[in-house]
Amino acid sequence: MNTIMEVANLSKSFGGIKAVRDVSFSVNTGTIHAVIGPNGAGKSTLFNLLAGATPADTGRINFNGKDITGFPTHKIAALKIARTFQNLKIAPKMSVLDNIRLGLHTVCKTGLIASLLRTPSVRREERETYEKAEAAAKRLDIHHLLDREAGTLAYGEQRSVEMARALISDPLLLLLDEPAAGLNSRETEDLADRIKGINETGITVLLVEHDMGLVMRISDHVTVLAQGAKLASGTPREVQDNKEVVRIYLGDDE
Ligand SMILES: Nc1ncnc2c1ncn2[C@@H]1O[C@H](COP(=O)(O)OP(=O)(O)O)[C@@H](O)[C@H]1O
Ligand SMILES: [Mg+2]
Repeated sequence: MNTIMEVANLSKSFGGIKAVRDVSFSVNTGTIHAVIGPNGAGKSTLFNLLAGATPADTGRINFNGKDITGFPTHKIAALKIARTFQNLKIAPKMSVLDNIRLGLHTVCKTGLIASLLRTPSVRREERETYEKAEAAAKRLDIHHLLDREAGTLAYGEQRSVEMARALISDPLLLLLDEPAAGLNSRETEDLADRIKGINETGITVLLVEHDMGLVMRISDHVTVLAQGAKLASGTPREVQDNKEVVRIYLGDDE
């Protein structure tokens, strides 16, 4: 099987806190790979390292055969790695359409004068952008909401807007940080189907999730973090049967 991302000996400390300790794993192309672990395990920090939002102290990240260690976010996005955030980052006063369009990094391809004059090329680009946003919205069943102000949507719909924003760039790898956070069980079911649907179109998904049920249902591979370090890695079944994993989850406040 091909590897799309390889993480080797990644570490990150904040002051005295070792948020990520010597973590290594690889993500196979075309799979849904979950990273689970209790609160504070280092999952979001790991994502921030992979997305270039935070530089690692040590370790290497390889994506599609390329060493991307130390790359800033825009360079990583340009390589077609897209992400969502654990805490929603939606512009509430902007329309759903404009929120989704923010996920395209080519918005300013045409110059200012051309934009002001609304030349044919500008209008063509606008139409293409609209079509891409509409297609991304369709994949998440929010295409009927494109004109709405994002802040007026239900919470679950806002999370879908964020995912559509990640999808508009046609990513090869999609990083989802706790996509089920705050969703009810019905919404979580729908989310599971959507993530599977997205994955079936060829997008590799790396998913951080606290909801074990969701992870076990949709993941091909699970990596478990505890206190910043890798505790286990394997199929959902292997991880579920791992005594250490069971212990930290039973000891968890959930
Ligand atoms: N920017 C930061 N500054 C200081 N400490 C941080 C920062 N980000 C995360 N941490 C700490 O790192 C540890 C891991 O946090 P995090 O990656 O958010 O865990 P998770 O996403 O698994 O809940 C926690 O102890 C957290 O308090
Ligand atoms: Mg987190």
